Amino acid sequence: MCGIVGYIGGGSSGAKRIITDGLKRLEYRGYDSAGIALAADGGLIVEKSVGRIANLEKILNASSADSHAGIGHTRWATHGEPSDANAHPHTNADGSIAIVHNGIIENYIELKKWLTTEHGISFRSETDSEVAAHMIGLFYEGDLLDAVNKTVKKMRGAYAICAMAAAEPDKIVAVRKDAPLIAGIGENCNFLASDIPALLKYARMIYLIENNETVLVTRNDITIFNEAGKPVKRDVFHVTWDADAAEKGGYDHFMRKEIFEQPAGIAETLNRRLDENGEIKLDGISLTKQELDRIERIYIVACGTASHAGLVGKFAIEKFARIPAETDIASEFRYREPYIDDKTLVICISQSGETLDTLAALREAKSKGARVLSVVNVVGSSVARESDDVFYTWAGPEIAVASTKAFTTQLICMYLLALYMGRTRGILPDNEYKRVLSELGEMPDKLTKLLEDEPKIQNIAKKIYKNERIFFIGRGVDVSVALEGSLKLKEISYIHSFAIAAGELKHGTIALIDRDSLVVALASQDRLFEKLLSNIEEVKARGAYVIMLAKTGAGGMDKRADDVILIPACADDVTPILAVVPLQLLAYHVAKLRGCDIDKPKNLAKSVTVE
Ligand code: AGP
Repeated sequence: MCGIVGYIGGGSSGAKRIITDGLKRLEYRGYDSAGIALAADGGLIVEKSVGRIANLEKILNASSADSHAGIGHTRWATHGEPSDANAHPHTNADGSIAIVHNGIIENYIELKKWLTTEHGISFRSETDSEVAAHMIGLFYEGDLLDAVNKTVKKMRGAYAICAMAAAEPDKIVAVRKDAPLIAGIGENCNFLASDIPALLKYARMIYLIENNETVLVTRNDITIFNEAGKPVKRDVFHVTWDADAAEKGGYDHFMRKEIFEQPAGIAETLNRRLDENGEIKLDGISLTKQELDRIERIYIVACGTASHAGLVGKFAIEKFARIPAETDIASEFRYREPYIDDKTLVICISQSGETLDTLAALREAKSKGARVLSVVNVVGSSVARESDDVFYTWAGPEIAVASTKAFTTQLICMYLLALYMGRTRGILPDNEYKRVLSELGEMPDKLTKLLEDEPKIQNIAKKIYKNERIFFIGRGVDVSVALEGSLKLKEISYIHSFAIAAGELKHGTIALIDRDSLVVALASQDRLFEKLLSNIEEVKARGAYVIMLAKTGAGGMDKRADDVILIPACADDVTPILAVVPLQLLAYHVAKLRGCDIDKPKNLAKSVTVE
């Protein structure tokens, strides 16, 4: 979604380059236009352009204007089509105030009416954001901080706003409510941003701005104020991510790089949670036997790929810990009045930790008395901060919109949690606990081996990339992997794909199967193998081309399937960690052959911070 970068340093130049550089690092969030406001010559220079940041750069390069301070933005349209006029920054009528905004101002129609009828203000864009620029302009009496504070009192919704005033070129004021915002400490300069990667090159020490806080940034100071306007002390958060981790490092795309980073991510996530005796340790997470015995139900709440990890998590928790578990899509959970009480544990899964629906579901659960444990990748993100306990995935920064390494590390967390719960409750026999733990320990090596098969997947991709209808089927935990494989394919290749439990095919969907259909059949489950083979026969009988994914050593598949993808042998319980990887690679190579913009698919954003 939208991205924000603010910079304030010394001299009279630098802001243009540093802000555009920061915006480029936020490209992965998804955007359709970009813009920048610079404090220069006693005024504010605003440049913006629809399309890629390269378009904005062309405009900026053609001008000699630069500054010591400015704010920049990448927009992902919510109100008004992508256009130059709707791109941020937005200014007030005389151009003395400029703002960039992430989120949605829910009462903007009412505010727009008030500004138009009572103050004769005319609007230049269709955005909700423009009201903020006019309101700050209206309240401005020489103190930007005061004007921003008065403005936010009138606004409802979710926002991170950065504002500049021509009359105060040495200040940037920002405010946060339900949209990510951080302030970074540089050398003789300071920063604001919506996301850590924007600052990785320049600042390792950051302040995480909390909801309803305002922050005043000058070249030498960052002051954070609470809702009552009182300065608050905040600990500095040290970012440990390697700056290179957010670079492509020789790969064509972040997605492929991140697929290949999975063995290391999984090993790291495992190692952080195993003690010297190889036992699971959940430091910082309180799950005693007494607490676990009190829990009567678990809801796993997430969106997209994270919800598919949740489906595997439900399976693992019910199997190993014997606690009833449900996986819910966050946008549905928050509105369906689920049964929640203080005996409910809610597990939120989120890579970014900023997905608005997941965050809202978390708040709903907490308000009803549930305890919330989150599985999150981005340290210090909103979901992490608002949860009672956090189980971090150690995948490192995930830049590609299509989630890969976050998914497999989320799976590891869910398995570890389930095993730990089962063991602590005294339900899971020791040998079973050790067996699964040892299977998990073998995953990094098995994955490394599996990734060597990329050329085979590439060949299959060459055969199928023109297909326009692809079905994914599976049974047991393979259904979750089918859903994830299908999502991966559709989001980056734009092929219409659909995932369904294989046994459910004959209840309707089989009507769609014909000679033009391609079916990816996941057959990783030994105990369901024969049943899955029957489903393959059913679709083959109707003319479908079948790609089967099975464990090395599974018998009989060559005869039925047109193509076979093999994963290393492992126990049925843990196959999702391996089975998803060929599907990630398949989606990647199909999308590449179709000439798609793999890391930045159309209409999608990495971090979905609106409903
Ligand atoms: C995954 O490939 C998607 N881009 C998307 O489904 C994503 O997983 C979803 O938006 C949830 O994001 P989160 O993990 O950051 O909460």
